[in-house]
Amino acid sequence: MAVLAINGGEKVRTEGWPPWPPDDPGFLEALKKVIDSRVWGTGGEFTTQAAERMAEYHGAEYAVTVTSGTSALEVALRALGVGVGDEVIVPPYTFIATASSVVAIGGVPVFVDIDAETFNLDPTKIEEAITEYTKAIIPAHIGGSPADLDPIMEIGKRHGLAVIEDACQAHGAEYKGRKVGAIADAGAFSFQSSKNVCAGEGGMLLTNNREVFEKAWSQANIGRVPEGGWYDHRVMGWNLRMTQFQAALILRGLELLPEHFERRYHNAQYLRQRLEEIEGVSLQKMTHPSNRSAYHLYIFSYDRGAFAGLPRDKFLQALNAEGIRGGSGYNPLYREGLFRDNWDPNAFPFAPQFYKGKVNYDEVTCPACEQVCDESGFWMSQSTGLADEKAMDDIADAILKIQQNVGEIE
Ligand SMILES: Cc1ncc(COP(=O)(O)O)c(C=O)c1O
Repeated sequence: MAVLAINGGEKVRTEGWPPWPPDDPGFLEALKKVIDSRVWGTGGEFTTQAAERMAEYHGAEYAVTVTSGTSALEVALRALGVGVGDEVIVPPYTFIATASSVVAIGGVPVFVDIDAETFNLDPTKIEEAITEYTKAIIPAHIGGSPADLDPIMEIGKRHGLAVIEDACQAHGAEYKGRKVGAIADAGAFSFQSSKNVCAGEGGMLLTNNREVFEKAWSQANIGRVPEGGWYDHRVMGWNLRMTQFQAALILRGLELLPEHFERRYHNAQYLRQRLEEIEGVSLQKMTHPSNRSAYHLYIFSYDRGAFAGLPRDKFLQALNAEGIRGGSGYNPLYREGLFRDNWDPNAFPFAPQFYKGKVNYDEVTCPACEQVCDESGFWMSQSTGLADEKAMDDIADAILKIQQNVGEIE
């Protein structure tokens, strides 16, 4: 019988994992071009091209470069007319910015549960959460895997709600043959260090709506208008401008993306097949069979029943000991301090002078999200998918080894 690494046995995997950001001389060359151009701030050829390439790649008409995915979400909300006192439906299983961007613009996030197998917003639960104050829905394409946009957009249309795709983890992902981020009213992308296209920090908003584009552009450019003068500030805006350095890194990242995308995708398909022989562990289910996830994260479902009742967190300790990096991932967002300890119903934006509806974050429960966060979900970090088939075999072999020797774990 094999001895588990957690008990001093040999590890299944001794090699490391691909570095991220990737080793690529193109990044340094890109930065040098910016230095030589002497246009370091916004408005130069690199920011313009980065917006054009992202829009072209994702099939969008317009793109606005901003400082982060968070600011892209805030700008999108305001550009679509969402503001103080408005409710916005969000999933609880995502990065905090999907919900905190709503609070930042004076709105109220309303959490709607996910599907425990797709880890994405469950469209069948949305309608019961709609009230007279609801103005928008933000599905997040979690782990890079597209949310089920068709029914979500159909609900949005029927109730007059804007739909904003949180595509921060989903560069290049496809929903029923179309690239995400340009399917709903607006899409938000992030280029923060961990993302599949990264520039340290940075964000972008995509849209096919000229008015949304102009409003978003003005917000990000201190109230200027796209064709206006430098000292022509017509509306309230912020300085949310991306630098040329970020844009140049994004341009190089977009050149690498197609090959990276295919590698992550191929490895995921290979791993899916290997996992078919293992009871109790599977990869995130797609919301539609033809979808192509960006596989920003490899997200798994774990059933302790197939591991003699071994709790997920103990399983993860054993897996990490075997040289396979795994983590338990998000907490339900409504359990984060922002919505628990530090949530004040008498302060902006929740107090009655701002908001006429009813919300009580202390009472929110989303059972599928809690099951995933507390018991059944786990992730492997974003560069996992850039490794090779041998690494995928190592993942499957380590899981099998734990399953076959689970009696060794106390
Ligand atoms: C799903 C999701 N939404 C929003 C964000 C916010 O992006 P940023 O970190 O660029 O503000 C992130 C990334 O961190 C994310 O993963």
